Amino acid sequence: MKKRYTLEQKRWDSPVEHAMPEHSRVPASFSIGNVNIAPATVLAPMAGVTDTVFRRFIKNASQFTSTSTTADVSQETSNQQSGCGLIMTEFTSADGLSRMRETKRKRYLTYYDDEHPIAAQLFGSNPETLADSARIVQDAGFDIVDLNLGCPAKRVVACNGGSGLLRDLPLIEIIFRAIRAAVTIPFTVKIRMGWSDQHIVCVELAKLAEECGLDAVALHARTREDGYTGQARWEYIAACKDAVKIPVIGNGDIRTPEDAAAMVEATHCDAVMIGRTAPANPWIFRQIAQYTATKEVTGKGTYDIPANEDRYHMIRTYFQMLVDEIALEEAAEAARAAAITASGQIAREQRNRDCVGKMKQFASWFTHGVPGGSALRKQIFESKNGGAVLDAVEQFFERRHEAALEDMAGENEASLEALAAGCG
Ligand SMILES: Cc1cc2nc3c(=O)[nH]c(=O)nc-3n(C[C@H](O)[C@H](O)[C@H](O)COP(=O)(O)O)c2cc1C
Repeated sequence: MKKRYTLEQKRWDSPVEHAMPEHSRVPASFSIGNVNIAPATVLAPMAGVTDTVFRRFIKNASQFTSTSTTADVSQETSNQQSGCGLIMTEFTSADGLSRMRETKRKRYLTYYDDEHPIAAQLFGSNPETLADSARIVQDAGFDIVDLNLGCPAKRVVACNGGSGLLRDLPLIEIIFRAIRAAVTIPFTVKIRMGWSDQHIVCVELAKLAEECGLDAVALHARTREDGYTGQARWEYIAACKDAVKIPVIGNGDIRTPEDAAAMVEATHCDAVMIGRTAPANPWIFRQIAQYTATKEVTGKGTYDIPANEDRYHMIRTYFQMLVDEIALEEAAEAARAAAITASGQIAREQRNRDCVGKMKQFASWFTHGVPGGSALRKQIFESKNGGAVLDAVEQFFERRHEAALEDMAGENEASLEALAAGCG
């Protein structure tokens, strides 16, 4: 049975461990049209995950700090910018967007100034509606508009959107031209290799994109039928790169900085795109950037491995950002309606549910590497609101901290005794 296009696909099918290649690293920058992206790393669009809070959280987590333990990174390089070069919205239905009222649209296309450069992703199959929506995206101030030709979800494919379109190249050409004519901002497409192994179209599609004036192609190197099974077939990223001059962004199964460099080495792609690893290891972009910077300076790439204390700060920061975002939305709503009406109350309850839902979802991705993470997950899953989740996180790490201090005290005593015995 095929898997659904949900968070369930977070698991990896027997992941391959790559060694860091000696000569390659992720490029320091690349350009999509007139938009310069540095470094050449992209946070993949993920429905239900990459909302404004998650995007900003990843951008911040990707920032180098001056306290970095990586000795050889120069201050200038390390503190300049986030290690995540480009972020993208979750996919948005072009049909929905073009029908929505202005206020609702704003909610779907919410982003903050510090998110630039940012791309908005659309899906749909009607050329006019897609062109209209691309204009809306441009008017909303996005730097790039992206078309989704990869989503395997039945609901999306049934309307011929996402990977459904991969079976209809003539319609894709009409859509490409309609969107290209509608906007002046860079226009990109994210594709899968094709519908099935019998119908692989990625190279043809990349050439078509170039011909129609698109500015870059991102390839998730699997077919629609693959779902998320097996290994991403990076050789198809290499084949697309060979076939076109516009930038090719490689995507699929990058879990470590080693994998990212190995993908560049194997495919010569212009940039790497990372999806499922980001919520499991929000430091992945920083680690890639540290590797890139240290390699440039010393010829040997290194990167920081987060400690448990860092994990605590990470989870706490993200959850606090979710709670703050709700408070902001509520304040905006209160400003719109002086009195909280019945529908306002319902909206508030919904927002609270969404917030706790996101916390639970993130906890299930992120706490796998934390010792005792299953106990924390259980506590988070039993919490009823954002405050209760934050308390659970606080208490969990507090207990861990105390346990670690006790261990350390024990060890110190032991080593003092040993020292004393040695002196004696
Ligand atoms: C929960 C989830 C939601 C996704 N949503 C989208 C989406 O909205 N648009 C899209 O183009 N791809 C979407 N994808 C696919 C990812 O962008 C990416 O192509 C895929 O996960 C492979 O990359 P990875 O191996 O780095 O995870 C989604 C993937 C996951 C796991």
